[in-house]
Amino acid sequence: MSAAGLPYILVVDGGSGGALAAARAVRRLGAYSEIVPAARAAEAASSRPPRGAVVVAGPEAETAEAALRAAGLPVMMVDGASVRGEPSEALASFVEEECRCAGTWTMAAYAASQVEAIRARVGEGRVVCALSGGVDSAVAATLVHRAIGQQLVCVFVDHGFMRKGEPEQVVTAFRERGMNLVHVEAQDRFLSRIAGITDPEEKRKRIGREFIAVFEEEARRIGDVAYLVQGTVYPDVAESGAGEGRLVKSHHNVGGLPETMTLQLIEPLRQLFKDEVRALGRELGLPDAIVQRQPFPGPGLALRVIGEVTRERLHMAREADHIVVEEIARAGLTEVWQSFAVLTNTRTVGVQDGGRTYGHLVAVRAVTSVDGTEARWARLPWDVLDRIARRITAEVPGVNRVVYDISSKPPASIEWE
Ligand code: XMP
Repeated sequence: MSAAGLPYILVVDGGSGGALAAARAVRRLGAYSEIVPAARAAEAASSRPPRGAVVVAGPEAETAEAALRAAGLPVMMVDGASVRGEPSEALASFVEEECRCAGTWTMAAYAASQVEAIRARVGEGRVVCALSGGVDSAVAATLVHRAIGQQLVCVFVDHGFMRKGEPEQVVTAFRERGMNLVHVEAQDRFLSRIAGITDPEEKRKRIGREFIAVFEEEARRIGDVAYLVQGTVYPDVAESGAGEGRLVKSHHNVGGLPETMTLQLIEPLRQLFKDEVRALGRELGLPDAIVQRQPFPGPGLALRVIGEVTRERLHMAREADHIVVEEIARAGLTEVWQSFAVLTNTRTVGVQDGGRTYGHLVAVRAVTSVDGTEARWARLPWDVLDRIARRITAEVPGVNRVVYDISSKPPASIEWE
């Protein structure tokens, strides 16, 4: 679903990269942008005329440029490497003066255009959405709710691997808005599905399959569903198929499309970058706890309990994690991209009340990153680390030692599993 009706700048991908950065730069100038491959530029421009086009250099750029100029559009050629970061003055004057498109891109305008498009498309049909607690699905669901109200049913599958207090936060935030929410408490089911499993990929697979099974059961119960809402964002769309990503982990996206269901997709965030999704969430009145939430893996704490996941080990990981989250928030360290605790499968000797203990080892992980593909361990202040370690050993029974992970990605990954 495109942002039909909004004035926009066409960004033409010349085939050598940089289109995403160019689209980003145009949006920073307050104008909406959409990317098309060079081969489809002329067609896109005639079916929905843009105010102008930014053509990113590459082997196919010149042909596209000629076609767009022939159609009478203002065109600017840019080099893929030069459009990263802050928009240049030349680009600003192109967008503002030649295209007269600056300042037209606001989240309120986007929300309104989507609400209209969703209503027109769905009619009286029933729509389901899998809420994961993450920003994308939350914002997508809220937008669709604004469009069609009670025709939307949100299914929140609580697999029991969320952070402390998160399920309650999600349920409260959505019920308070009067949204139709089915809260499936499937903690026992998920826990028994991964009982005894220590291999991380096997955990992921089992949790992923179970998620789909639970979601399908619920969808069947709701019955007569025609559409599924997904929180797909722009970089997923624009970059899919661009370059062969090596599989490091089989990322299970909770909210992923159950392949066996014949539902039509509604993807109202398809045109947005991540920070725009957050801005839209704020525009729709979602609380900061949801809008500012750190990226969190679909299988959740199951990946942060190394080795076998049991109720007791999950409890230790969750309590330790909560302390990390609380102390980092208290210290106002907003530059941290992700921070969490890992319950390792190492036991270590300690002393307490004059006696010897043989307790569990918790690792603390905090990283800075732009998008998770690379990361640096966060230089947390010593006193924050000190408070975290003291609190974990004092407040989480069974833990007698805390270490801080000072590896960056690569070669380490952000998660331990
Ligand atoms: P890694 O550990 O690969 O993580 O450096 C990069 C980013 O992806 C998240 N991650 C996952 N997200 N399902 C998800 O939905 C997964 O199985 C998964 N594994 C890692 C991780 O939290 C980080 O943001």
